[in-house]
Amino acid sequence: MFSQVYEPKGYEFTWLPAAELGGGLAEHLDERTRIVWLETPTNPLLNVIDIRAAADAAHAAGAMVVVDNTFATPYLQRPLELGADIVVHSTTKYLGGHSDVVGGFAATNDPTVAERLQFLQKSLGAVPGPFDCWLVLRGIKTLAVRMRQHCENAHVVALRLAHHPRVEQVLYPGLPTHPGHEIAARQMRDFGGMISFLVESEDEAVNLVAQTKIFQLAESLGGAESLIEHPARMTHASTADAPFAAPKNLIRLSVGLESAEDLVDDLEAALVRSTASAGA
Ligand SMILES: Cc1ncc(COP(=O)(O)O)c(C=O)c1O
Repeated sequence: MFSQVYEPKGYEFTWLPAAELGGGLAEHLDERTRIVWLETPTNPLLNVIDIRAAADAAHAAGAMVVVDNTFATPYLQRPLELGADIVVHSTTKYLGGHSDVVGGFAATNDPTVAERLQFLQKSLGAVPGPFDCWLVLRGIKTLAVRMRQHCENAHVVALRLAHHPRVEQVLYPGLPTHPGHEIAARQMRDFGGMISFLVESEDEAVNLVAQTKIFQLAESLGGAESLIEHPARMTHASTADAPFAAPKNLIRLSVGLESAEDLVDDLEAALVRSTASAGA
């Protein structure tokens, strides 16, 4: 969106790694900076950004802050209370919660921004249909209970993967070893249902995502059913040449609402099968 739609129109972007957005952001801002756009936890690397620190630095430079809160949801993280000016969500994910709707929304507590967004929405026509709105509203009724179960299941899966000999590294903010753990513990109620992990090679990653039986091989995330995918070839293939490209040996999980033990068994069996088929 930024590089292929807005850059050709004359907008300029500077891409920063997550670590620099929380601390050290000020030195990248000047009087021309209008917006600091961030996402936390990030897709697909689960980096965590200190929203309050980013908002303080952005506001000191006269810029506004937009936070993509899709991974966390409003149940786990409330960026407006941490200083953000606008929060955006893909309602396709946890808010809808059942992988049966495509949508999004922006929230703000600034009346001037709200009025401008409303005008743009009316003028440009980016308006969701009534049935899509109904599906999202129905999904939101169970958001809290679903998120609690997503978090509980993800925690079990992350811990088991972290101790698995064929897993190089687990990226989950709920693990105390995660570099963003402390910030996440401060600004989130819990750590969410998304986990990424690194295996030995791209071949092993491609092999593994085809071996699970409960985790379905699919893009998207945040639904009741668990999903597994290979970001470098699927969700993030279009950013393969970008500075923030997904590592080729990375696997992303959207941990669903099934039994956590079944999910762990499924991954462990798939790790055995993918090892066997790589050796064959
Ligand atoms: C963090 C995040 N923001 C925004 C989007 C865009 O969502 P949609 O597919 O509803 O346009 C996605 C989709 O994967 C996402 O993961």
